[in-house]
Amino acid sequence: METEILHISSTMDTDKIKKAANALQEGKLVVFPTETVYGLGADGRYQETVDKIFKAKGRPGDNPLILHVGREEQVEELVLEIPQAAKDCMIMFWPGPLTIIFNKNPDVPENVTAGLDTVAIRMPSHPIAEAILKEANIPVAAPSANVSGRPSPTKVDHVKEDLMGKVDMIVDGGITDVGIESTVLDVTVDPPMVLRPGSVTVEELKVLLGDVRMDEGLIQAHSKKLPKSPGQKYKHYAPKAECVLFGGNLSNVAKEVNRRIKENPHKKIGVMATTETIEMYQGADLLLNMGSRTDLREVAHNIFDQLRYCDEEGMDYIYIEGFELTGMGAGIMNRLLKACGGKVVLGL
Ligand code: TXA
Ligand code: MG
Repeated sequence: METEILHISSTMDTDKIKKAANALQEGKLVVFPTETVYGLGADGRYQETVDKIFKAKGRPGDNPLILHVGREEQVEELVLEIPQAAKDCMIMFWPGPLTIIFNKNPDVPENVTAGLDTVAIRMPSHPIAEAILKEANIPVAAPSANVSGRPSPTKVDHVKEDLMGKVDMIVDGGITDVGIESTVLDVTVDPPMVLRPGSVTVEELKVLLGDVRMDEGLIQAHSKKLPKSPGQKYKHYAPKAECVLFGGNLSNVAKEVNRRIKENPHKKIGVMATTETIEMYQGADLLLNMGSRTDLREVAHNIFDQLRYCDEEGMDYIYIEGFELTGMGAGIMNRLLKACGGKVVLGL
């Protein structure tokens, strides 16, 4: 399949916005930027178009998709009811990086929700996503635009690496802002439950909704509990290199990592550190700064790009510093734990 690349730098590019929206209406696969990561979109009203997403990504059929909308009114046709908690969240966080799980309208195709009775919906705030979705005026099913199991794409080069020749169109809108995928919140249960932590934090949701739960297994190593969100059970965000996550006292972390570097002179080792600690590492083949510990938004913005970069540079191992489990740290640690497939060294 030939993949057309469409550079859109502003919502003033109305011809190009229309072109992307038309492609979606015609049942084509269109990758577009969102404020979190790039999404691989298709018309969410039809089983056949949605099926193309699963094929292009190599995604398991039991992992449901998020429907993206440009207008709040669209939600009504996709769900059975809009609970008060959802209404509050929509006012506070939409458009933005929060996905809400509703009881689904039976008309939503079976493969969108992987056979579940619930449907995930989000209204992105990226101006280009918003413009395309408003213009298309259909619910757009869109997972992250990576091959299943790879880190989510935050740059158009990541998308090309994974999906060139497998989709009809890629809208290039530059680097995404947040860098990790949306927070997923289930409001069909009481109290509401976070199924995937993200940049809308549990703490923020608690301020708005009162009691909000999060499955602790999502941010803890060696959890045996099966997660409630199907996507969370897969090995995920994984680069080709073997990743190990280190936690504890940061100078002890650096000492342990330096010791491992010294012990493995014939392996290529990448280290993902922070502004506060980067000077403590010696001998890494690639030393990357995820950002400052005082600004976890910067860290979230960088992690997927750096995991991919380590692969590009042919690292055998990637040693990564861990973070606290509060605020944005929960979303970051959830992704890093998955990238490491449970290989963690804690309590240093
Ligand atoms: O930021 C994002 O959410 C990005 C951009 C493109 O919008 N999309 C994204 O989609 O991350 P995806 O497919 O990679 O992740 C969707 C997550 C999966 O973990 C999936 O299992 C979960 O949402 N999910 C979808 N529908 C669900 C449902 N009905 N119940 C529980 N979890 C659901
Ligand atoms: Mg994904």
